[in-house]
Amino acid sequence: MAESGLRLFFALQPDATTQAAMSGLAREIATTSGGRAVAAVNLHLTLVFLGEQPSTLLPQIQSAADSIRANAFSLAFDRVDSWRKNGIVWAGASLLPPALATLRRDLVAGLERREIALDNRPFAPHLTLARNIASPPARTTLAQVIEWPIDAFSLIASTLGQRGPTYRVIARWPLAPGAASGDSA
Ligand code: 2AM
Repeated sequence: MAESGLRLFFALQPDATTQAAMSGLAREIATTSGGRAVAAVNLHLTLVFLGEQPSTLLPQIQSAADSIRANAFSLAFDRVDSWRKNGIVWAGASLLPPALATLRRDLVAGLERREIALDNRPFAPHLTLARNIASPPARTTLAQVIEWPIDAFSLIASTLGQRGPTYRVIARWPLAPGAASGDSA
């Protein structure tokens, strides 16, 4: 019998206020660049992309996340850029708090200890705003920085459909409150 698989990734998902701000930006960008805005509920920043995994590995994958001890932090999204190679426009933060790199590093280490295969290309933190763009917009600095407080990370399963992907949150892990903005200690 064929083993059932899941297309998985760990991600940060915006709170309602950040989601609304990012979604507004996504619609604006899609209009000017001739692309398709990412649906508000789908907006996220990928921490670790696992790709297709047998569902039998889910307990191991979740246990890697269970062992993470990390503090909440925030990201200040201040720029918009695009990647021609995959036709996306994304929002990014010029200053990346060490806490983000630490969270990703610990998660990758936990997954590797459990021999879970993952995409280990250099981490390029970005939040995709629009896909299939016809003309890449000029790189811009946002007049109004979008401050995103991050207090959890999620494991998400993606199903690719004709009208784009559908994401299902499998589990969510809180980050410890109380750290100063951008601090990993
Ligand atoms: P993207 O937004 O830049 O396309 C679900 O597909 C998420 O995983 C998206 O955020 C997507 O990034 C990211 N993703 C897809 N394939 C990936 C890969 N091979 N390596 C890293 N991230 C990937």
